[in-house]
Amino acid sequence: MAYQTLTVRQDGDVEHVTLNRPEVRNAFNPTLIAELHDWARGVGGRGRRVAVLGGEGKVFSAGADLAWMAESATYSHERNVEDAGRMAAMFAALDTLPIPLLGRVHGAALGGGCGLVAVCDVVVADEQTTFGFTEVKLGILPAVISPYAIAKIGRSAARELFLTGARFTAARAREIGLVHAVTSSDRVDGVVAGYVRDFLSAGPQAVAAAKQMIREVSSLAADRVTEVTARAIADRRVSAEGQEGIRAFLEKRPPKWAG
Ligand code: COA
Repeated sequence: MAYQTLTVRQDGDVEHVTLNRPEVRNAFNPTLIAELHDWARGVGGRGRRVAVLGGEGKVFSAGADLAWMAESATYSHERNVEDAGRMAAMFAALDTLPIPLLGRVHGAALGGGCGLVAVCDVVVADEQTTFGFTEVKLGILPAVISPYAIAKIGRSAARELFLTGARFTAARAREIGLVHAVTSSDRVDGVVAGYVRDFLSAGPQAVAAAKQMIREVSSLAADRVTEVTARAIADRRVSAEGQEGIRAFLEKRPPKWAG
């Protein structure tokens, strides 16, 4: 895993992936997009149980690389669609990562950087972080990130923040559901570590199933809700992992996966 724009570090069951283009505030270009997509495709197969996404240097991510956006004027329409398609595929792969993706956010998360925040399951932010769906200020659009952002913040906040491109605080990001915890810079790693411990204390297959269920149930037709959710718990409660978790509780001992 030798990447040019990412650093990857393993710590037991946890994999830390860090955007590493600090000189352009971790803006993403085609190389970073390809590498992050490649990382997302591989991390589940490496047996990790949690992934932590952060950014090197002053900020988490300044979004799409504007030099690349400027260069896109020289591409054909087909090439622009393919190029944007690769970015959309990267976001989709991160959104559906089979393990929890925990965002560690500081400095700024702007444009597509806010999109990265939106595909994380849990986000811990430094209280000084500036957020913004700034695309319209640049005459462009938060297009490929919109499904993930709207799923987190809802249409009302999206109508305000997508249409104004206004920057907003970490406190506001928490209020609208984009981030889950806001703390001082010296406490960010401690809060991240607390979430990691929580994830590791839960059944790995149950966590993956819960993540998939959230996605599935949100778009389920009303007449299928009972059947799909009943089947999901019926399968899980008789699974080896489910039985181990239940027995461990009744026998007053930790479950095997909790080490
Ligand atoms: N794409 C390409 N380069 C970027 C960039 C981006 N999205 N964001 C910042 N950079 C570059 C700057 O051009 C500058 O390059 P230089 O050193 O060659 O002049 C370098 O990164 C540092 O940027 P600077 O603005 O001086 O850093 P800062 O720490 O004062 O501020 C930000 C950081 C993120 C707040 C600020 O760079 C910013 O607002 N960026 C634009 C973010 C944005 O609107 N993104 C939406 C993209 S869709």
